[in-house]
Amino acid sequence: MSANKDYVQIFDTTLRDGEQSPGCTMNVEEKVTIARQLEALGVDVIEAGFAAASPGDFESVRRVAEAVKAPVVLSLSRTREADIDRALKAVEKAANPGLHVFIATSDLHMEQKLGMSRQEVIDAAVWAVERARRHVDHVEFSAEDASRSDIDYMSQVFGEVIRAGACVCNVPDTTGYAAPAQTRELFARLREQTPGGKDVVWSAHCHNDLGLAVANSLAAVEGGARQVECTVNGIGERAGNTSLEEVVMALETRRDYFGVSTHIVTEQIYPSSQLLAKVIGVPIAPTKPIVGDNAFAHEAGIHQDGVLKNVLTYEIMRPERVGRVSNTLVLGKHSGRHAFAERLKTLGIDLQRVNVAEAFDRFKALADKKKEVYDEDLFAIVAEGGEAEVGTRYRLIDVRVSSSLGGKPVAQVTIGIDGKPVDAEFSGDGVIDACYSAIKKATGVNPRLERYQVAAITGGTDAIGNVTCVLRFGDQVVRGHGAHTDIIMASAYAYVDALNRHESRTAGGGDGGGREIGP
Ligand code: KIV
Ligand code: ZN
Repeated sequence: MSANKDYVQIFDTTLRDGEQSPGCTMNVEEKVTIARQLEALGVDVIEAGFAAASPGDFESVRRVAEAVKAPVVLSLSRTREADIDRALKAVEKAANPGLHVFIATSDLHMEQKLGMSRQEVIDAAVWAVERARRHVDHVEFSAEDASRSDIDYMSQVFGEVIRAGACVCNVPDTTGYAAPAQTRELFARLREQTPGGKDVVWSAHCHNDLGLAVANSLAAVEGGARQVECTVNGIGERAGNTSLEEVVMALETRRDYFGVSTHIVTEQIYPSSQLLAKVIGVPIAPTKPIVGDNAFAHEAGIHQDGVLKNVLTYEIMRPERVGRVSNTLVLGKHSGRHAFAERLKTLGIDLQRVNVAEAFDRFKALADKKKEVYDEDLFAIVAEGGEAEVGTRYRLIDVRVSSSLGGKPVAQVTIGIDGKPVDAEFSGDGVIDACYSAIKKATGVNPRLERYQVAAITGGTDAIGNVTCVLRFGDQVVRGHGAHTDIIMASAYAYVDALNRHESRTAGGGDGGGREIGP
């Protein structure tokens, strides 16, 4: 990595900071699927997780490290020996391994959270960076809560970790508190006054609590940052992190102003955004810049008139540039494998990273039920592939429901449990309620339903319904996902998917949940 003047590295933390947000957890297979897409997107660094946080996180980092070749793959780590060793172990097979060490530098965090003095924090940071550097070249150091830290003290900390071998200095706005002009000044000052500051890459890591994460990241670039940490669709704790697509397209579209470029293959932005949304089951707001449904839609007559005469009147970037192709009817049940694969390619989906034969089978099954198959359906079909490895203790065999205006809805379900069919019947307040109660009765598992969400992937009454449900099992929260042209089936699939995810998590393998992370 270099401190190159006109190039900004993109550090993607979708799989770590992004995945930490409730409802965005992913299992190992899903993380590998996303990591492969991030590689196609051209990110420079993938933060694959926090290896010491749980066995699931360790496994995810290890598998991502093996799966991708071009980007640096790193794990987050506190300044503790056990964390560093675990992180090093997780990335040992990576083509380009790295470590990301952090400790807080604000007086508030040091006193209240860590109970450490300023000197103790410096000693811990230096010790951790030195230890990491004995094993890997790429060591990033983060001063947590930097935007509320004393600048002179923080500069001293950065100077010491640079001497210990850190090559990237990250300045996080952990609480989303900073303002853009202040951020620009902070970066310029740190780069100028920190001993060795001109020889390392300065990095911005912003949270979006005040809706300023992208603005602060761009201001940091103006102040000399040459790495931006971000997540696809801006997912992340609380109000999220800097949105990758927004910050990249701001730098690309306003290159005349910022004077820097990135290595991002911008045509892969929309496919990446769609894939993540489908995998985690969290829809994108229609007005979200770059990737929202309305981001390139011109409704007002006066705008439409202008765009027809010359697109530049109201469009500052072409949708094709971010990989958006029109929402066209593409394929039907008579379409062949070749046409299917060609359409995936047009959508920017890398066929090397997809099991095309299995995806084609899913497409055929869908085309049988649905007259028209749209591009969005294809993204869903591909995303489904990443879920194949979830445990399969429970299998939905059948659901039958009856409902009438005057009567109480009743659901009968047949669930395969360890290969044996079990029937159950229940009546409820609605068909979904009855169906979920019947599944609980059949399986004897009794989680609490925390969230239930339905989204139609495309318009029309035969659209695929995409259901996400979030179940709570004691202190564990698990998400399930189901897609079907029948919304009741999609709901039942989502519930059974969540039960299986919980099973694989308690069996110690799958999801990155169940973490215990202290300061
Ligand atoms: O927001 C933050 O401070 C972080 C650090 C661990 C980099 O995520
Ligand atoms: Zn963060």
